[in-house]
Amino acid sequence: MQVSGQIAEIQPPPITEVKSWLAGRTFPAEKPLIDLCQAVPSYPPPAELVGFLKNSLDDPLTFKYSPDEGLPEVRKELCNWYQRHYHGAPKPQQLCLTIGASQAFWLAITSLCQPGDEVIVQLPAYFDHPMGLQALGIKPIYAPFDPEGGGQPDLETIAALISPKTKAILLVTPSNPTGAVIPPAQINAFFELAQAHHISLILDETYNAFIGSSPHQLFNRPDWTDHFIQIASFGKTFALTGLRCGALIAAEKYIQQALKIQDSMVVCQPRPTQLALKFGCQYLDEWVADNAAIMKQRHDCFKSDFLAAKTNFKLTASGSFFAWVQHPWENLTGRQAAKRMVDEANLICLPGETFGPRLEPYLRLSFGNIETGEIAGVIERFQQV
Ligand SMILES: Cc1ncc(COP(=O)(O)O)c(C=O)c1O
Repeated sequence: MQVSGQIAEIQPPPITEVKSWLAGRTFPAEKPLIDLCQAVPSYPPPAELVGFLKNSLDDPLTFKYSPDEGLPEVRKELCNWYQRHYHGAPKPQQLCLTIGASQAFWLAITSLCQPGDEVIVQLPAYFDHPMGLQALGIKPIYAPFDPEGGGQPDLETIAALISPKTKAILLVTPSNPTGAVIPPAQINAFFELAQAHHISLILDETYNAFIGSSPHQLFNRPDWTDHFIQIASFGKTFALTGLRCGALIAAEKYIQQALKIQDSMVVCQPRPTQLALKFGCQYLDEWVADNAAIMKQRHDCFKSDFLAAKTNFKLTASGSFFAWVQHPWENLTGRQAAKRMVDEANLICLPGETFGPRLEPYLRLSFGNIETGEIAGVIERFQQV
């Protein structure tokens, strides 16, 4: 069987690759494996949400298709959630519920671009973005990572990369893998840059619930629909990553086009996911805020302890969920460095180069799935190598 050359050139899924290094290995009880690989909340969804979903299984409707864009009552509730968290909201017809942010990204790109088009991608990039673009024959144009910039995208650098083939500027805020949060005024400046060039600003805001304030005011602009597309996820927000809960938010006329792809790709977000999303939007603001505070505390603790500890690693950027560190081995790639961490520190994390070209000096640590009390032990592992 012949595989498409375009697909064969794409890197393997990083988490699968890195986890495959553990096959057949065991780790001693006195120094167990620490997993800093995947960005998942360490806590389960709240019991009331689980109970609600259990009850929903008695309703035969739960197992049926919904409209492609999602149930009207769920989209309405999601708009209310936006109103509370962004102080401005899309309308229900500007939302399409998706199988995670991952599928929202595919809807956004396939509706916007044709093979040969370009999308500007800030490095380090969330790896699924370049992987998806390459699979579709769309060229990622990388804005370089500036180690002095704390992971913030630079407006002038990005402006200089815009060409007649550019369809969009793609940014992730808060960033995976640096944790950097783009300030609202800067997001507005990127919107105006996109507007000036008649292209789109695509923001992946998967971690928006962990900022602690309104991420931006774009939804208050009457012209947001002309140049803004949002990729949303509620997987981390409500600890539902396995239910695959996301949304695409854009102009109604754009959503109408995206629905052609939605229909041929998945038809709709599964109803249990929609029910969970509605419940979360209706009742879980406080639960989300409490967990966001825990994640912030976890990051603050990690950052201060890591900076205070004597290690050979340099903390280049960090935020809720993530730290982006430079490893000390100049002659090792990120893959080799990450393997060395497994061998010598019993700690698994992601190699920098899985987040884009020329990022071999870095490692991504995800501390979403470890408790605050475990952080001192994690830092000790970095001191030992
Ligand atoms: C920046 C970013 N976008 C999208 C996703 C995928 O989100 P979902 O699980 O909702 O598909 C992730 C998951 O880690 C992510 O970090």
